[in-house]
Amino acid sequence: MKDLQVSYGPVNAVQGVSFGAEKGKVTVVLGANGAGKTTSLRAVAGFHKPRGGTASLDGKSILGAPAHRVVRQGMSLVPEGRKIFFPLTVEENLRIGGYAAPRGSHDTAIDGIYDQFPILRDRREMPAGLLSGGEQQMLAFGRAMMSQPRVMLMDEPSMGLAPTMVDRVMSSVRAIADTGIAILMVEQNADASLEIADSVVVVNRGRTVWSGPATEARENTAIVHAVLGETALDG
Ligand SMILES: Nc1ncnc2c1ncn2[C@@H]1O[C@H](COP(=O)(O)OP(=O)(O)OP(=O)(O)O)[C@@H](O)[C@H]1O
Ligand SMILES: [Mg+2]
Repeated sequence: MKDLQVSYGPVNAVQGVSFGAEKGKVTVVLGANGAGKTTSLRAVAGFHKPRGGTASLDGKSILGAPAHRVVRQGMSLVPEGRKIFFPLTVEENLRIGGYAAPRGSHDTAIDGIYDQFPILRDRREMPAGLLSGGEQQMLAFGRAMMSQPRVMLMDEPSMGLAPTMVDRVMSSVRAIADTGIAILMVEQNADASLEIADSVVVVNRGRTVWSGPATEARENTAIVHAVLGETALDG
C-alpha cells in the first residue's frame, strides 16, 4: 500500500501511509492513539473509500474494491476489538468467516483451525461470549482464516489482554505467519510485538514516518519512543 489517504468529511485521518506485507513474515505497524492505523487497515480491506493512494495484492490493484472481493482475492481483516458474536457458538463464529469461501471448503478449514488452536476445538459448542479474552482473540484469528487468506491484517490483537495472554497471542501470530501467511499487524504494545516482528512501520498523525527491519527498531529505540512515549519499550 502506497501513500494512502482517507478522510472522514473534513477530517484527513490518513494523509500518506505506506506499508507492505510479505509471505511468512510479520510486519508490525506501531503508532499512538488516533494515528490512523485502524482507518488504514479498514481502507485496504475495503471498508472505507480512500481519497488517494494505491494498494495491490500479488500485483493486482485492490484499493477501492469492496470488502467481499478483497476477501476472495486472499486478504482478510481481524478487526479492532475482535467483534466476536457472543451468543453464537465458537463453531458458528468460524462458519461466518467462511462466507466468501466455497461452502464445501468449510469443514476442512475448520479442522485446520482447530489443529492450530486446540482450545477452540474443546470449546466448539460453547457460546463465544464465555471464552476468555485471549481465546476470543484466537477465535477472531480463526474466523479470518476461514477464507484461507494469503494476507491477514490484524488490528491490535493484544488490546485489553493480561500480560501472559499477550505473549500467547503474539506466539499465535508468529505461528500463523510460519504457515506461510503474510501478516500486517497494528499494535500499540511495542515490547511484545517487536519480539515476533520481522519488519516495522511507524505511523504518526496519519503518515508513515519510519520503516525498517525489526532488529533496527529494537536497537534504534528513539523512533519508537518519539511516537509512543518513553515507556513504550521496557525490555
Ligand atoms: N468515523 C469517524 N469519523 C470521524 N473521524 C474519525 C472516525 N474514525 C476515526 N476518526 C479520526 O481519524 C483519526 C484516525 O483514527 P483511527 O481510528 O484510524 O486511529 P488509530 O491509530 O486506529 O487509533 P487507536 O490506537 O485509538 O485505535 C483520529 O483522529 C480519529 O479521531
Ligand atoms: Mg485503532
